[in-house]
Parts: sequence; C-alpha cells; structure tokens
Amino acid sequence: MEAAGSEDAISFQDEAVDKSIFKDCNKIGFYRRQKLLPRKNTYRALLDSVTSGKDSTKFQIINEVNKVPLLAEVYGIEGNIFRLKINEMAPLNPRYEISDVLIQKPATKRLTPCPGDTGTLVLKDDSGNLKFHISANPFKIDLSSEEEPVLSINSTGRLYFEHLQMPPKHESQDDLGLWQEKFGKFVDIKANGPSAIGLDFSLHGFEHLYGIPQHAETHQLKNTSAGEAYRLYNLDVYGYKIHDKMGIYGCVPYLLAHKQGRTVGIFWLNASETLVEINTQPTVEHMLSQEGSVLAKQKVKAQTDVCWMSESGIIDVFLLMGPTPAAVFKQYSVLTGTQALPPLFSLGYHQCRWNYDDEQDVKAVDAGFDAHDIPYDVIWLDIEHTEGKRYFTWDKKKFPDPKRMQELIRSKKRKVVVITDPHIKVDPMYSLYSQAKDKGYFVKNNKGGDFEGVCWPGASSYLDFTNPKVREWYSGLFAFSEYQGSTDILFIWNDMNEPSVFRGPELTMEKNAIHYGNWEHRDLHNMYGFYQQMAAAEGLIQRSNGEERPFVLTRSFFAGSQKYGAVWTGDNKAEWGYLKISIPMLLTLSVAGIAFCGADVGGFIGDPEPELLVRWYQAGAYQPFFRGHATMDTKRREPWLFGEENTQLIRNAIKERYALLPYWYSLFYHAHVASKPVMRPLWVEFPKELETFDVEDEYMLGSALLIHPVTEPKATMVDVLLPGSEEVWYDFRTFVHWEGARTLKFPVALDSTPVFQRGGSVIPMKTAVGRSTGWMPRLPYELRVALDSQGSARGELYLDDGHSFQYLHQKQFLHRKFLFSAGVLSSSGADENGHYHSECVVEKVVILGINKQPSSVTASCPDMADTQVAFTYGSKTSVLRLEKLSLNVGVDWEIHIK
Ligand code: NOJ
Repeated sequence: MEAAGSEDAISFQDEAVDKSIFKDCNKIGFYRRQKLLPRKNTYRALLDSVTSGKDSTKFQIINEVNKVPLLAEVYGIEGNIFRLKINEMAPLNPRYEISDVLIQKPATKRLTPCPGDTGTLVLKDDSGNLKFHISANPFKIDLSSEEEPVLSINSTGRLYFEHLQMPPKHESQDDLGLWQEKFGKFVDIKANGPSAIGLDFSLHGFEHLYGIPQHAETHQLKNTSAGEAYRLYNLDVYGYKIHDKMGIYGCVPYLLAHKQGRTVGIFWLNASETLVEINTQPTVEHMLSQEGSVLAKQKVKAQTDVCWMSESGIIDVFLLMGPTPAAVFKQYSVLTGTQALPPLFSLGYHQCRWNYDDEQDVKAVDAGFDAHDIPYDVIWLDIEHTEGKRYFTWDKKKFPDPKRMQELIRSKKRKVVVITDPHIKVDPMYSLYSQAKDKGYFVKNNKGGDFEGVCWPGASSYLDFTNPKVREWYSGLFAFSEYQGSTDILFIWNDMNEPSVFRGPELTMEKNAIHYGNWEHRDLHNMYGFYQQMAAAEGLIQRSNGEERPFVLTRSFFAGSQKYGAVWTGDNKAEWGYLKISIPMLLTLSVAGIAFCGADVGGFIGDPEPELLVRWYQAGAYQPFFRGHATMDTKRREPWLFGEENTQLIRNAIKERYALLPYWYSLFYHAHVASKPVMRPLWVEFPKELETFDVEDEYMLGSALLIHPVTEPKATMVDVLLPGSEEVWYDFRTFVHWEGARTLKFPVALDSTPVFQRGGSVIPMKTAVGRSTGWMPRLPYELRVALDSQGSARGELYLDDGHSFQYLHQKQFLHRKFLFSAGVLSSSGADENGHYHSECVVEKVVILGINKQPSSVTASCPDMADTQVAFTYGSKTSVLRLEKLSLNVGVDWEIHIK
C-alpha cells in the first residue's frame, strides 16, 4: 500500500498508483531477452533418445545454437490431462521444482507410442482419442482429440531455456540483466545468472481465454500484442489501477480457453515471476470468388497463441483437455485440490475497519448491528490491535482483556478475526522474534544474515514459510496455550504476504534473498503467501485437535490456495469503477479454483457516496466473501451512518444474503466435493451460447441464480442478458417471468439488485434471518421452485453442523435433493451416506410457473397420513404458495398438486 516506499505513505491514499515504483515489461530483463530472440525455432527433438516407461515418455531436445540438451518428459494423467516437463539434462545446479502445490502424485496412465511418419513420434492415450504428436525438426507438439487439432506447442518457436552457466570471468556489459539487473536504485545480483524459460501454445479455434488472476482487468483475457503482457508477480499495489495487466497481490498461473464444444486449461506450474502474452487471430471469413450468383466464402478459424515466460525454475505444464467447463474444473482440482468447505459463519457478513480502536469500539459496533436489526457474523481487528504491530499480542491499553471481549462476541453467536502478517518486528524483547531468530526461521539475505526489510512495525524480518519446520512452528503459535488472549471464536487474516517490504524493489523482497534449501526468493516469490496461509490454516485446525474447520483470509495466493481459505482483492477504491471491476476479478479467481473470494465492500480507500455504498452492499451480498472494510483516514461507515433510508437498503441487502445462506452453503459444498465454482461466468453455464462468452457485468450463482449488480450511479435501467432459448427466467422478487435468449431493459430503483431464478431450479432458503448465522440453524426453510418450460425443477440442499470436520470423518451431514415433476415435489436423499439429525422443517414452498389453479394439494411422508395443504394461487403471476408446512428437512416426503 506504500506508494512512497515507506509507512509514511499512508496519507498518499488518494493519489494514483505511482507506476514508476513497478516495472513494466520493458524493464524486465528476462522478458527483453526472450523478445529479442529471432523468431526461429532452433530446437530439435532427438527421437532416437525416446524411452517409454509406465509413467512417462522421455526424450531429449537439443538447442541447435548452443547444443545444450534438454530432457522432455510427457505424462498421461488419469482424467484427460497431459503433463509436459522440460529441464536441462544436466543443469549446473538443480533448478527449482515446486513441491507443495499438487495434492498428490498425479495418477499416470501409459501413453502408447504408435507409428507415425519419419521424424515424428505419436503417443496415444488408452482410449486412442487423444494424440500427442511430436515432430522432431523443428521441435513441435500437436495435441488432438478425436482427430480434431486442439493445441500445438512450440509451433511459433518460442521454446526458450536459459541453461545455467558459470559466471563470466570478466565483467562485460549486461544490458539484458543476465548476471545483474538494475531497477531504479535497486540492483539484483544473480548468483545463478540467467535462468529464464518460455514456451508457446497455439489454441486452435479458440478466441476466448480466461484465468491467470490477479489483475484488475476484464474477465475475458485481452490481446497483448499491442501492449503489456499479463504479469504474474505478487505485489502490494495500493489503490491498483483498473484495466491494467500489472501483477497485484496474488497469482494463479492457469488459464482456460473456451469455444463452442470444447474447454481446455493450461496450468503452468512455476512460482517465479511470469509473463503471459496472448495473441488472438479471430475467425475471419474471406470472399473467394463468385461462381454464377454464388459467392464462395472461406472461413479461417480463430487461433490464439499464448506464450508463457518465467524467470527461473523448469517448464512444468499441465494440459487439461476438458472437454467441458466442468471437466476442466475437475481436472484442475485433481491437481491442486478443491475449495475448503468454509465454516458457515464465514459466509455471513463481515465487518472490518482499519481499525476498530478498542474493546469499547468493538462493543459499540457490535451493539449497533443489533440496535439496527442488521445481521452480521464477524468483527475484524486490523494491525492496531497489537502491541506495536507485534502479531499474536494485544495492545494492553486498547484491549486489556481480549478474552472478555471475545466472550461478549461469543454471547452474540459471532466471531472475531484478527490480523497476523508475515513480517516480524526486529525486537529481541519480542519473544516471537527472538524464538524465530534463534531457530534460524527467517528468510536470509544473500550475505547469510537474516533478511531485514521495513513494514508496519519498522525494521522487520520475514518468516520463511517455505520451510516445513517454520510452518510447523508457526502453526503451533495458534495453540490456545501459546496465543495469549485467543479463544476458539478467533480466526485469522494474513495480509502483506506478497511479501510487502516497504523499501524493497517494487515494494517486495529482493529476489536474491535466500530461503530454506538455499533457494533464491526469485524461484518461489509467488508462493510466499500461499505457504503462510497453509501454515495458519493448519494452526487453526491443530488448536482444535483436528476437529474444527479453519477460516483464514489471505491477500496473496497461488495455485491451490483454495484449500486453505478465502482471498480478497486488496486495496480497492471507493469508486464506481472498482465496484464494477470486482465482478470480473472475482469471476477470474473463481474459474481459477478460488471460489471463496470477495472485494472490500464500499471500497477500502476513500469515502463512498451513500449510493455507491448501498450498491456495493447489494453487489457484495451476492459475492462469495462479503466483508465491509475501510482504511484509516476514511470516515466511519458502519451501515447505519447514512440515514434511515440507506440503512434500510443495506439491511435489506444483508438480509437477502442471510436468507439465501442454505443455497450458498450448498454451493460451497459442491465447490468442495465437485470442484464447481460458486460464482460462475455465464459461459460456464451456457457453454454453447456465444453471446455469453464475454459477459462480465452479470454472472450465475451456482446454476440457479443470475445476478446483475448495478454498478453505475443513478441507474434507472440495466440491460440484462437472459441466456438460453430453452430457458425461462423469473424475477426473484416479483416472480414475473421471461423466456431466455433476450436482453431485457430492466428498470432499477435504488432498492434492489436484479436477480433472476432460472426455470428448472429449486433454491433452498430460510424463511427468516437471525442476528448472525449462529441464530439460524433451527429456522425453517423455504423452497423456491421455478418451473422450466417442461414444468419440472430440481435442486439440492446440503447441511451439517456448520463448523466441524464431522461431515467428513463421521459423515454427519444431510444432502437432500428436491425434484418437481408431473405435479409432484419430492424430497429424497442425494447422498445416503450422510446422516445428520436436524429438527428443521420446510415450512414454505413457493412454486413459480404453475399454469392452473390446483384443486388440491396434499403432503405425504412416511409415518404420517396424507395431509391437505392450504395454498394460495395467483392466476396473474402463476405462483402457488404453500405455507405452514411442517416437513422435516431430513426425511423423504412428497407434495402432490392436483
Ligand atoms: C493492507 C490491507 O490490504 C488492508 O486491508 C489492511 O487494512 C492494511 N494493510 C492494514 O493492515
């Protein structure tokens, strides 16, 4: 956040990002080196070196210019995945290989070599559908599925591999940053010299690409040919600029490409600074000739070339062959894991501020929510709650009795989240510092001493979370006996973990700092935050003896961070543009596996006008992680400070969130077990509908709700795309319905967000909301049944205790499915393995799209005689309401409508 490179910079908050602090592509040595290379494929595969094993097929590739041999390994992985690894045959020193991202050794399957033309090697998977066609000279790989070309590798000749070398004997001019690279006053001395890699992929027939978070950019990736490449380098960029490809807090080096009929993914497993170039040649139609009256046309199919370039490490890339969006999500999660199932409270509303000043303040804010009848679940404490930014401590004056404060919050069935950053104040009297110092747990500088940089506490050292011992020790700090003043309602926020180093190059750590195993920071920079969140989540699990689910929010992240908790989009501004960009930013995180994501509601920097704040609450209520947050010198903005009318609007938005929690929780369960994003771009749900492919002002929550947040001031109308010619869409509030495949001019007032339910879905809700999720388990359910054009609907409900791992270890859960067909709504088990006792009942059922007034409605369940159900029917709206039902949520029942 520190625009001027020091903590004094807090006051510069309204200024634009000083981009001179950060590199653009032309200031990046390895990028310039790769770009300068003449575009000629200089690599040749040595097909007589091929060895084919159970796991992989190996062969050598030689660079014709320097004759350095590389070793390529091709793996077939269960579930339609290929892996290609390229490393030096005999590197001078080992090159960094990531070890903690893949959740297991991928299950390989044999690829069978089969005859091809001379100079080629063809590998087939066991189904024979997927082919890996390797051409020797020049080296190139073509992947096809059922004879359809899907992608080619190195077809534009951008394979690039800098082999490790001995330093030159004499200093020579080094403009390209081979052995040292200057940026402003910073000089990066590279002990290993140049070590960059690169590879290109041509995606045949694809012109829609997504993924590679995090950028404040559109959901659909843009062509980079005219400007900057997408940069993946985790950086602390306070008030980041929107529509920019610079790297911000976290990254996932994974992109998806989609066309009608196929979705594929490319996962580039590398944690060093990475750049991605994208060049799309869209479909063009050429007129060829005129024969008589007939014009002959030729369609030249779209192609997108993607080039990945990284500063160090090896080439290790996974090709996820889909073919559907759901298959690609699954393939990615087989590699990196699924979203952790969040504790239920964390899906409620979070109230944060830098800072809630003291215990009194916390009490008053907490009471304010009750006084104004606004539900919330968590109050957050930022860095000022500590003794001089010494994490795991409490400021004794402001928080003299943290347990007393937590007991008060507990009595409201709410939680507290506190911040713990990765930098540790250099202070021999601070036991955390002295312990870590004695144990050698800090990242080292390149002279062998502890790395020191400046962050909130002043001079700080940085825990080396890449070391398993450090992680183990750090996890232990969360034990109740260690963390004084903590209780089991206290959860964790990891911030500044890019890592942020105020006076460092680009406000981060020098690339030649040294980590565990003697690896340079350069090799693993993008994973630093990932490792911190991993250790914090593990710590919270351990403090409960493995019983309770953790909640850890992180600012920095990498591929696989979804396993450890939630992510937010950092220091946004209280401006309409930032509200608007929050949607594509979250969609991009979502398709890259990080389902639990959100943006600071209201905007962190600056004071939102009330209309913006209201609109932001309305949008945030339908985004996965829902937290209001604001920086220090903003005006207070608890939801009741903007007049009764605005309070009412915000209250309504938050209550809508709470009413829908059963649906949210069920979606998270799906993300957890079946890798489906919670927040989904329209193309994921409508993969054949071209007009959805670039939509980013609306999205689906699960497969049943379409959300179109209002992100313009004084809006009176929004254009809502209702996709799908076969679909029916119902206004979630008025129940008015439309057929799909149209763009609605939808009038909007300040009182709501346009939300539509898809015909064919059943959405579980609560009939009322409590002061927090903790007050809601017993509240009855309502089912919203929206019929499709066939008069059918289906949906699910997942529930468990909301906080422990018993759903996993003891199968303590209920997973129900609801089906409406031929006038019968039934509830039955979706997963009979689960058992969880709930007293809860379905009290209300609202059926949308029933064309005629029923003559009778009866409910039947086992152990009970059939009962007549009272109903009301609106012939104008075609809505049937069944109220005062009492159908246990855990048993099978049917409702017959005649
Ligand atoms: C930067 C974070 O992005 C912000 O959310 C937080 O309030 C400040 N650091 C202070 O901890």
